[in-house]
Amino acid sequence: MSARLLEFTDVVCGYGDTMVLRGLSGGVAPGRVLGVLGRNGVGKTTLMRALTGFLPLRSGRVLLSGSDLARVPPQERLAAGMAYAPQEDVVFGDLSVGENLWLHLRSRDSTRYAACLEAFPRLAERMQQRAGSLSGGERKLLSFTRTIGLGAGLSILDEPTEGVQPENIERMAVLVRARKASGAAFVIVEQNLEFLLAVADDILAIDHGECSLSGVAADLPRETLEQHMVV
Ligand SMILES: Nc1ncnc2c1ncn2[C@@H]1O[C@H](COP(=O)(O)OP(=O)(O)O)[C@@H](O)[C@H]1O
Ligand SMILES: [Mg+2]
Repeated sequence: MSARLLEFTDVVCGYGDTMVLRGLSGGVAPGRVLGVLGRNGVGKTTLMRALTGFLPLRSGRVLLSGSDLARVPPQERLAAGMAYAPQEDVVFGDLSVGENLWLHLRSRDSTRYAACLEAFPRLAERMQQRAGSLSGGERKLLSFTRTIGLGAGLSILDEPTEGVQPENIERMAVLVRARKASGAAFVIVEQNLEFLLAVADDILAIDHGECSLSGVAADLPRETLEQHMVV
């Protein structure tokens, strides 16, 4: 197995005096997807915030390509190779679809988003429209498109298929697999087991702030995964 691109060790973090994560470890190698699952409220989003630096660690370490990210603020992590599509507040509603895509970028290289815009023509047709006028699922697609288009070595996606139509979920899986084939790694939180099994190589399940299951996705029976997702 190749060296991990992302490695997190004994992560403890939470809100105020309440520790949500109580010593969680894991990681992902280049060209692989780590699927993160667990019931509602177990701390999946909290782990994504810890990995991306939006929530400070109480203890533990997060390494990207072997470098400790402790002193790298969230807004500098994209330059370090980490892109993030959060679960909520995914796009700027007052900006157009196009502005949401180009906002962070110095140059408009149209090839960047070509594969996603071909897969999701409704976004391509609505470039001038306010992102706030899109449905929840379409906003998730816009956030996904922006994150995929950034071309980061590691992309962190928190429930990317929430509210998205089934045919577009299938296209999202195709796009993730294409990025994987070119060496990109992902950490993906999902409730949609079909999507997760279509893309994930490794699985990490969380319960009570600790790892309740980890392993290679293909080795884990579907019923076992379902048991760890029950809401
Ligand atoms: N901003 C916050 N302030 C205080 N508690 C929070 C905050 N966000 C989440 N929590 C709490 O942390 C726990 C884990 O939440 P979260 O990581 O969002 O779970 P999941 O993504 O697995 O559904 C829950 O008990 C939730 O109520
Ligand atoms: Mg969540």
